[in-house]
Amino acid sequence: MDLDVAYLRAQFPQLHDDPDLVFCSNAGGSFVASPVLDIFSHYNRHMRVQPYAGYAVSNQAGQAMDEARSGWSRALNIHPDELTIGPSTSLNSYVMAQALARNWGPGDEIIVTQQDHESNHGVWRYAAEAAGVTLKEWPIDPVTGLLDPQILYPLLTDKTRWVFFTHCSNVVGTVNPVPEIARLIRANSPARICVDGVAYAPHHIPDLAALDVDMYLFSLYKVFGPHQGIMYLRRDLQGELPPQSHFFLHQDSHKRFNPAGPQHAQVAACRGVLDYFQDLYVHHQGPESATPSARLQWLHTKIAAHEQKLAAALLDFLEPRSDTRVLGKPHVRDGDRSTTIAFKPLKKSAGEVAKAMQGAGIGTEHGHFYAYRALSHMGIKPEDGVVRISLVHYNSIADVERILSALERTLG
Ligand SMILES: Cc1ncc(COP(=O)(O)O)c(C=O)c1O
Repeated sequence: MDLDVAYLRAQFPQLHDDPDLVFCSNAGGSFVASPVLDIFSHYNRHMRVQPYAGYAVSNQAGQAMDEARSGWSRALNIHPDELTIGPSTSLNSYVMAQALARNWGPGDEIIVTQQDHESNHGVWRYAAEAAGVTLKEWPIDPVTGLLDPQILYPLLTDKTRWVFFTHCSNVVGTVNPVPEIARLIRANSPARICVDGVAYAPHHIPDLAALDVDMYLFSLYKVFGPHQGIMYLRRDLQGELPPQSHFFLHQDSHKRFNPAGPQHAQVAACRGVLDYFQDLYVHHQGPESATPSARLQWLHTKIAAHEQKLAAALLDFLEPRSDTRVLGKPHVRDGDRSTTIAFKPLKKSAGEVAKAMQGAGIGTEHGHFYAYRALSHMGIKPEDGVVRISLVHYNSIADVERILSALERTLG
């Protein structure tokens, strides 16, 4: 059975608010799945007490949060102690920068990329500067925006402490081969590895055990859920780092690196994303015996097949044109192209194109999308930036047809 898009669209109430709007700014934040809304509403209506206090409703509130945490650790194929749910990816990485830099000093080296969103670049850069650490940049190809692992290779030394890179850039839209890059790093340095999965996870919840990285972050508000940041910290790494919460909370693995404290209802609602995927799994008749992580991987093949069709239709339109410059790979042949497609119009400003598209009922945007450095290195002025069309599995072929006809009229 192909992905049943009509079925799953019914799980997103906001998709039906305005039938004239094609929402294609999902990389900025997705619509929320019904099971998430249900848990959030139920928690706030009936369980709005301090959790874990010992009386019935308080215990239920704590249990709802525990279920979200254990569900997500099973989904990601990690130990529950390795999961932190914090307010956002930017804040999680900010906190981790305080922890990591305490162990850094002159003589150490770290590597960041030119491709990343600022939240996986600036914090490490500033922490390195303050600690007197040498910072190296893994450059992108200035034409395509792609990262080449062969260019990383000579940057790695026995002094490299960390390498920070993205699973998929939110403007370049091409998936980086994380296992291959991790092998290269491990074979040529003692470095730890941090991967930003924010632009990747909405298309594929990863099996983290298979990736072999030390830190992995993504944001559930882009994965059909509440505004929370998921952070994986490998167990042995946690022992090496100074905790960042109140001293009496250090023994709680999920509180150690979250000084904000848990946002109770939001944490509980994280489970709704898994309930949504589980419902899809059953609807598509996935095999009964699979583990939670294997179920998500099974579902991913169906989602990827659908998303590839959406991306192919857009890229087939944009790529041959002489008035647009598409970032990243201009085709889906290699299976590593996400449905986040950004382009620079060459005969109009990105602002003009986005505005005209919006006038035609297409919910798109323009700008640098906090990938300011990536656009600058590609010779694109970040202020006007690029037009970004970012689709997810609930977007339909009909959505793409409407986007294409608006593009045709706008670009001329
Ligand atoms: C690729 C990427 N990384 C990191 C972030 C930061 O995530 P958050 O908004 O949860 O701080 C974003 C947000 O847009 C992003 O697109």
